[in-house]
Parts: sequence; C-alpha cells; structure tokens
Amino acid sequence: MPAERPLRVADATVIVHPDADAASRDAADRIARVVAEAVAARGKAVLGLATGATPEKVYDRLAARVADGSLSFRDVTTYNLDEYYPIQPLDPLSYRSYMHRHLFSRVDLAPNRAHVLDGTVPEHAAAAHAAEFDRWIDADGGLDLQLLGIGRNGHIGFNEPSDLPVAEFAARGTLPIDLHPITKADAVREFGSLEAVIPRALTMGVRQILAARTILMLATGPKKAPIVARALKGPVTASVPASVLRTVADRVVWILDEPAAAELG
Ligand code: GLP
Repeated sequence: MPAERPLRVADATVIVHPDADAASRDAADRIARVVAEAVAARGKAVLGLATGATPEKVYDRLAARVADGSLSFRDVTTYNLDEYYPIQPLDPLSYRSYMHRHLFSRVDLAPNRAHVLDGTVPEHAAAAHAAEFDRWIDADGGLDLQLLGIGRNGHIGFNEPSDLPVAEFAARGTLPIDLHPITKADAVREFGSLEAVIPRALTMGVRQILAARTILMLATGPKKAPIVARALKGPVTASVPASVLRTVADRVVWILDEPAAAELG
C-alpha cells in the first residue's frame, strides 16, 4: 500500500492518505493521542465532534480502541457541532441519534458529559440556548480537539457560506441558521426528499471551532476535491467557511484521501 504523503500548501498542514480507511485511522489515532495527553495534563479531555458520513469510520475505530482497552472516554466530555432544528432527539435523523448509534452507545462516555444542541428548544429560547452551549464549552476550558468535515459548499458544522467580513464570521458564537441550498440537496440522502429536509439547524459558531487547541479537518472522496482546493488555495473568505481555518493554520491538520486531494496539484 502506498504511504501517506505530506503536502505543502500555503498556510496549511495537509496529509494525504491512499484511501478513506487510512485517513480515518489517522484521525482516530490523533484523537486518542489528544485524549491521552489532555487527561494526563488536566485530568480531562474535551472533544468537539462532527456528524455526516465522513466521520463514521473514525467512530468505528474509536469504538474498537475502547473495546481493546487502548482508549477510554471515562474522562472525556464531548460537544457536537450541530443539530437540525427543530427535531426530537429520538428522531432517527437527529444528530443526537446519529451520535448514539455511531459512538455514544459504544464507548464508556458518561451520558451527562455528551452534549448535543437541543433541537426541541422553543423558538424564543433558541438564541439563549446557543449562548448557553458556548458558556458550557468555555467553562470546560475550551475544546482540546475539534473534528470537522466539510460540506460541498465549504461549510463547517452548519456554518454556511456568508458575506460577513472574515473577522466577524470568525468571532461568531453558536447560533440558529438557515441551511444553504447545497446543504439541503446533500441532506436528501438522509431525509429521502428535498421537501422532507429540515431547513434549519443550530450550529456551534466559528469562534469556538477556531479556539480549539487542535483542529482535524477530515475530507474523503472525489466529491470533496473542488471545495478542498478552494478552501486551501483560494482566498480566505467567509463565503468558503473552511478557508477561515487558515487563520489558525498552526493548529489545523487537513487529513485527506487521494480523491479529495485530487485538485490540490
Ligand atoms: C453535514 C454536517 C457537517 C458535515 C458535512 C459533510 O451537513 N452538518 O458537520 O461535516 O455536512 O457531511 P458528509 O461527511 O456526509 O459529507
């Protein structure tokens, strides 16, 4: 099997793996390492987690490591990036359900340490709930690691393309948001039809993501190649949300497979 290759891209550390399995293994190993280091240093680790198809294999590997005793979530607290809004937690399409299926039910994480934004919060209380989520993360000392995927429009979490100036976008807290047409089109995969897609969400803001002490951006497959290239080689702009990661380049590792890296040159 060909080895991974580091790639020189301005303002970014990029590691290209031969396939999605190898990329997922690398991401899981890095998460396990951060957990071990943070627990050794502070007695706890705080992880920001992502949903979508991309991290499923990462969660499989983390669960396997817990099963073989090489990793424990006993001292881990988690915060998820986002949740559809409104949605019931037991709805199989909720990100709470996704996390239960792919990770929470398979590892030794205490239920009261697993935070997912509440898709049932009443409209008038949504902004207050979002602010509360940021306060919880801040009170936990911020995120040791944030795992990210990328939408085909460059979104991170559900921070959709925006015409805000970069500084304002980068400072934004957790908030309710309308989904972008590309995001809704991609969500048909889960919801079955465009009419069924829940058009709004609550998402961790860019401020909290950029403040994470380590950020792993995982992107795999050929569909991500054009946006990965725009995010890494185009201008840093809120209209390509992931490009803003380049403002904290020293804390970000882009973990790609060859198909996702195909347009980087
Ligand atoms: C979803 C999630 C994001 C995710 C992205 C890519 O809508 N809100 O957090 O990173 O879109 O998803 P996938 O990994 O399925 O391509």
